[in-house]
Amino acid sequence: MFDLLEDTTRTDYAAELDVNDAGREVTLMGWVHRRRDMGNLIFIDLRDVSGIIQIVFNPENGTQLHSKAHKLRNEFVIAVKGKVSARPKDMINPDLKTGEIEITAFELKILNDSQPLPVQINENILAEEDLRLKYRYLDLRRPQLKEKIILRHKIILAIRIFLANHNFYEIETPLLMRSTPEGARDYLVPSRIYQGKFFALPQSPQMYKQILMISGFDRYFQIAHCFRDEDLRADRQPEFTQLDLEMSFATQEDIFEITEQMFKVVFKEILDINLSTPFPRMKYQESMLKYGTDKPDLRFGLEIQDLSEILRDSNFKIFSSEIKSGGFVRAINAKSCGNFSRKEINKIESIAKHLGGKGVATMRFYEGRLQSNIEKFFSEETKKNICEKMKVEEEDLLLFVADKEKMVCKVLGELRNYMANKLSLIDKSKFNFLWVTDFPLFEWNEDENCWETAHHMFTMPKEEDIKYLDEPENYGKIIGQLYDLVCNGVELSSGSIRCHRIDIQKKIFKVIGIEGEELEKRFGFFLKAFQYGTPPHGGIAPGIDRIVMLMTGAESIRDVIAFPKSLKAVDLMSESPSEVDEKQLKDLGIKIMKKGSIDERTKG
Ligand code: AMO
Repeated sequence: MFDLLEDTTRTDYAAELDVNDAGREVTLMGWVHRRRDMGNLIFIDLRDVSGIIQIVFNPENGTQLHSKAHKLRNEFVIAVKGKVSARPKDMINPDLKTGEIEITAFELKILNDSQPLPVQINENILAEEDLRLKYRYLDLRRPQLKEKIILRHKIILAIRIFLANHNFYEIETPLLMRSTPEGARDYLVPSRIYQGKFFALPQSPQMYKQILMISGFDRYFQIAHCFRDEDLRADRQPEFTQLDLEMSFATQEDIFEITEQMFKVVFKEILDINLSTPFPRMKYQESMLKYGTDKPDLRFGLEIQDLSEILRDSNFKIFSSEIKSGGFVRAINAKSCGNFSRKEINKIESIAKHLGGKGVATMRFYEGRLQSNIEKFFSEETKKNICEKMKVEEEDLLLFVADKEKMVCKVLGELRNYMANKLSLIDKSKFNFLWVTDFPLFEWNEDENCWETAHHMFTMPKEEDIKYLDEPENYGKIIGQLYDLVCNGVELSSGSIRCHRIDIQKKIFKVIGIEGEELEKRFGFFLKAFQYGTPPHGGIAPGIDRIVMLMTGAESIRDVIAFPKSLKAVDLMSESPSEVDEKQLKDLGIKIMKKGSIDERTKG
């Protein structure tokens, strides 16, 4: 049944043909995407990597050819020789790139058949995601998914060319390494040769890139695979890719400039979009206050206002006592939402509670005054001040949250996004980049009763804050030379100016409780390298997957990775992680205590 390729050679890619090729004889190869068998005429949509084209089999071109074409089924692999012809005007398909032409076939080779597919290659009837991940090779045949993966290639290529042109060297660093602390759990690899010892897969190549600066490479980058065993979300994978880069003798300004230029070039080349640079900047404190988050979406307003001073002495105890005990009352003005139903308000309250908040108080502005079940607790003066600060207009709805600062930010930040979606305030065609700077270096961990680095333990504090490293009461005041690049509410990149002085680095370790033997054990090799002439350096690591998501408009990170893990951190196609032979375990000196998933093991 099957033909061999032998002397048949492909002359063209399907979707590269157009009306200018009319009259040409071509040989195309690909898959049967769709077939319509009208008995007399048989139409095949042939699909290859470039796209789709219509092939017509006409009985006039031979009965043998025609009966062969009758046998074609979806996803058969074929070679077709035929003539390009312009379609009559009324037969043009405007939805298809090649819709103005078709191929009249005069030779057909069936190169392979296909079983009926377990998942359809059709954007309109998408199968459930787990099934698509199991048959990822079929899902990847979907033109829309394939386009995203090809665009990813183009983005990475543009990045590589840009950086190579700016004197960066691409240097690979090991995948089997000592664990790098980036805040998540490590994926560990047991050593057979040294039983009981483990490599860790890199959470990022952070220490290696700093060491490359000590080695004098000046500018390094790598399209680096990173591994983090953490809870997954729509924009998180256990195995993901960073554009990791580092520069010697560079200031924050240098790093911002090169990053901005790179994004500018990549957006122009790939999407023909002119990004305006320099990107705006905002300090962490301001971002938290105005947007409740360090990754604000600036495509819409709905800014948060602090009303704590106005409400400090109000008779509404829930507010005033919260403020007096160190908390805050902040609010957003949901413009023109005064007519929200009870059900809609309940939904807003349930979002707040789901996030761990106590709730949301609401007030509407109707017929020139604030209306609410709590309005009676506020003096006319206070109400006037609220209205002024919140810039209230007729039919507005105010959403108040009273809590400790962290929770106020969390709840209002989330409600801001929720309301923007609900009110369709987001212009999806916009790319609003923002540098968030001046993050605190340390954060107090309430649960563990200790200081930890808020972002990055290898970061240089701001010059004027270095003195606080000797003053425990001021640890919380220390600002790090840390920065994130955010776009449309997504943290795209994170970086910092590093601590190149060993004395300062040791003090930072001490604040987070790493000193003495433990310091030597975990970071001895790293600190040793720092003794031999370490240049000042800094860097950044944009997440490639998130950049591709942004540039392709993908909702899920799994749509921009060829072989992603499922939401449960499993490769459904190869069915891994999987059990291994007893012999393999024995070689490694490993005994499994309890089998099963984490859910199964923690049940009961
Ligand atoms: P950080 O941990 O912030 O910094 O990571 C940098 C960027 O990597 C992306 N990213 C992820 N993408 C997908 N899935 C994940 N699980 C995931 N985790 C992180 C994000 C993030 O902004 N070594 C430092 C960088 C540096 O300081 O140079 C680091 O890894 O886009």
